[in-house]
Amino acid sequence: MRSIDYDTEQYQDYARGRALNEEQLRVWIDAFAAVLPARRPLAGLDVGSGTGRFTPALAEAFGQVTGVEPAVRMREIAQAHSTHPRVRYLAGSAEDLPVPSGSADYALMFLSWHHVQDKPRAARELTRVLRPGGRLLLRGNFSDHHPRPWWLEHFPRGYEVDAALFQPLHEVIEMFTSIGWRVAGFGTVTEPSVGTYGDMLARLRLRTLSFFGQLGPDDLEAGFRRLEEAVAANPDAPAPVFAEPLLTLERA
Ligand SMILES: C[S@@+](CC[C@H](N)C(=O)[O-])C[C@H]1O[C@@H](n2cnc3c(N)ncnc32)[C@H](O)[C@@H]1O
Repeated sequence: MRSIDYDTEQYQDYARGRALNEEQLRVWIDAFAAVLPARRPLAGLDVGSGTGRFTPALAEAFGQVTGVEPAVRMREIAQAHSTHPRVRYLAGSAEDLPVPSGSADYALMFLSWHHVQDKPRAARELTRVLRPGGRLLLRGNFSDHHPRPWWLEHFPRGYEVDAALFQPLHEVIEMFTSIGWRVAGFGTVTEPSVGTYGDMLARLRLRTLSFFGQLGPDDLEAGFRRLEEAVAANPDAPAPVFAEPLLTLERA
């Protein structure tokens, strides 16, 4: 995959392009709660926290959270909107987590794992910072368990290009089980719709998805032209939902 530098791309529009409404956030928090221990508080890490889409909601539901984010600009946006007393944001990455060993009960990686350059090192870091029995909630895509968002089919080779950004599921599992972790769960979460086809198109135009960074100008133009035509035929109909994978791994 062409790596995305969030300090030069996407950061201006990310919060708008990827905003979650209250209902969507609640569905995700419920899905996380279902795979986390019932006791409270839990000490959490939001690894690749970006603009802090999830961080305050995690703190509200589970207890103190450290958002770790390498891109200065993404972190600045998160910090500027940060009012939650149990949230802090730190510079760092999955390969270099700025927190003490054995200090976290869980780590969320929401669409950040595929950006990690040195995955074996990140797996070792996650092993270091999580307590025994701690859980990694990996909302990733996997090349062989890839969601099928309705809009992707309008882009030339859209599905193949998007799926190629991700590892196959077994490869991710093997990376963790080979260092003593176990799979605690694998399922999908269906996020409620953002609204209409027109609403979704308005977001897609902001191009805050790594997929768009992989396409050449001709494919981008052709894809958006086809998408605009398709949406123009039915802009006010509700945009379809799709199932998104969530892998839960448990540290030994
Ligand atoms: C698609 S965004 C997801 C942000 C946030 N988790 C969300 O769902 O809104 C991917 C994020 O991963 C971050 N990232 C890139 N490389 C990383 C790494 N090695 N470790 C942790 N995060 C990384 C990017 O800077 C970016 O903020």
